[in-house]
Amino acid sequence: MRTYITTPIYYVNAQPHLGHAYTTIVADTYSRFRRLCGDNVRFQTGTDEHGDKIVEAAEREGVAPKEYVDTISGMFKSTWPVLEIEPDKFIRTTDTDHVKVVQKILQSVYDSGDIYFDEYTGLYCQGCERYLTEKELVDGKCPDHQKAPEEIAEENYFFRMSKYQQPLIDHIHANPDFITPERYKNEVLSFLSVPLEDLCISRPKTRLTWGIELPFDDKFVTYVWFDALINYLTGIGYPDGDLFEENWAVAEHVIAKDILKPHAIYWPTMLLSMKLPLYQKLHVHGYWNVDDTKMSKSIGNVVRPKELVAAYGVDTLRYFTLREMSFGLDSSFSSDAIVVRQNADLANDLGNLFSRALAMVQKYREGTIPAPGAYTEADGALRLAADKMLANYEEAMGRFNFHLGLQAIWGFVGVVNRYIVTSEPWGLAKDEGQKERLDTVLYTILESLRLLTLVLRPVMVGATVKMGEALSLAPNDPRISLLPLGREWGLLEAGTELQALATLFPRLEKEDKTEVSKKQLKKEKKKKAVVADDNLVSFDDFKKLDLRVAEIVAAEPIKKSDRLFKLTVKAPEERIIVAGIAEHYSPEEIIGRQVIIVANLKPTKLMGVVSNGMVLAAQDVDGEKQSLILTTVSGPIATGSKVS
Ligand code: MSP
Repeated sequence: MRTYITTPIYYVNAQPHLGHAYTTIVADTYSRFRRLCGDNVRFQTGTDEHGDKIVEAAEREGVAPKEYVDTISGMFKSTWPVLEIEPDKFIRTTDTDHVKVVQKILQSVYDSGDIYFDEYTGLYCQGCERYLTEKELVDGKCPDHQKAPEEIAEENYFFRMSKYQQPLIDHIHANPDFITPERYKNEVLSFLSVPLEDLCISRPKTRLTWGIELPFDDKFVTYVWFDALINYLTGIGYPDGDLFEENWAVAEHVIAKDILKPHAIYWPTMLLSMKLPLYQKLHVHGYWNVDDTKMSKSIGNVVRPKELVAAYGVDTLRYFTLREMSFGLDSSFSSDAIVVRQNADLANDLGNLFSRALAMVQKYREGTIPAPGAYTEADGALRLAADKMLANYEEAMGRFNFHLGLQAIWGFVGVVNRYIVTSEPWGLAKDEGQKERLDTVLYTILESLRLLTLVLRPVMVGATVKMGEALSLAPNDPRISLLPLGREWGLLEAGTELQALATLFPRLEKEDKTEVSKKQLKKEKKKKAVVADDNLVSFDDFKKLDLRVAEIVAAEPIKKSDRLFKLTVKAPEERIIVAGIAEHYSPEEIIGRQVIIVANLKPTKLMGVVSNGMVLAAQDVDGEKQSLILTTVSGPIATGSKVS
């Protein structure tokens, strides 16, 4: 199978931001997913460098257009490797081969009679670089740029777009997946429910010279959209390059909703006129806002991808954007949201699963993959969950529902974490008679880690290389691919040595919240503690205690202390509690357990760590050796439930 996937070519009037990054991460993730399935993939992105907007931006900077476009195009090109984005082709509309092909196409469309000369008076929006119809205006203004369009009358060349209106409507009806998600298909059909006007495809040189000259009239340059859309053909060698036919037959474009009309109406009608097959699919996503506000230079809230990578790491950024945005809908970026995902999904759920599983194999089997014995019902249930996860993941990724693909993966992470808790490897390790069972449990967990490494490869490039290395799997090992082989169970070889794994995702602090808790601590210190010295507690006093069910999501030993663990618990909000249980439990034994905590204890600092509560445990004083058992509830219950 073959895949040809493109992003829009970005205007070089502004530097790359989160919105550009998202579309390009999506296309890169999809490329990597299709490659994992064994496809021959071509992934193209690039820059759109002609038109009024670019000239204006160059003028503002006081440089010649060519110098300006070289600089900004370079910024886009250099951003992609930082985001682990690897396009096969980076096209620029100032490339000479692109310019030649655009002129060739214009000439043939002109020769066929689909381009004519006429006078036109219309409402032109500088921001959109196109004429708007009355219907598109809101209160007389362009809804995207909040400016009234200028009325312009000039002689120009027109493309007979209206001639292809009905064939396009028919095509959309006959091919239900041509434009997805559905809402955007409906939007396009609604545009097409009224007669289409022809498209003005030239600009007189008296107004604009920075463009591709019309081959049949040197007093005009080409309208930037007519030039830009053709990049999808020139980048694969249209008309007679070797790569053209096979790739064009499978073309899929990714865009955001802002450029739906040019892609869903101008472009297919241009292709119909050129007698070329239409692209296969148009995938349309929503807009990223920042803190629920539209990203804009004037507000000063533009988020730069390289800065995000420096702050959170590329794996987290890619994961966050794909998980947080439901493809097709708008989404809001905030640093709190990314920290929450990093801590909860990556550091706790995924990172801890890997570290505790590998630590157990290290501890109980000296870091060597054991051979499984007979599988039990519990193992079978886990394998069934793995199969279900794989099926849901593939379906979702293939349909650009990345958030659903990731949800399926995290559902499985939960299954594996629970499998560890219920199969209690630490208990099995104490019993020689359970040696084979322990081998089977550890092997089942390791195979689950292999599958997780596999499915996360398109999303988190660096982290999955590390995860694979820990399992002694090379980055391109077919056992972590979606070829038929990779889907089988039992591919890890018994006897293989595991490798050490550095922390995959460090836990991050939410900056502002830390400040708040520091201030709170100072205030608390000033207050005098009220300690009851009476042994009897009144009911009113008891009622003051806020006891809750909490889930331990992370546990790490505190340096310089044999006794203390720094626990991260959910109750249901996350908090840190320092607990003196290190002599009685290992971290992997307690992660995933539900315990009871005192949630409203005054914060206190122990060995440099602020503890926000207390975990209740029972101390066995009967006998010589003091043991300590964590309290829990007798069945699973929602974290945060009140204990009374
Ligand atoms: N040059 C045209 C595209 C020509 S394609 C033949 C253009 N360029 S652009 O620089 O404005 O890029 C628009 C695209 O950037 C959107 O369709 C989307 O892919 C991405 N995004 C820009 N801002 C965005 C958000 N705030 N949110 C999500 N994506 C957005 O239009």
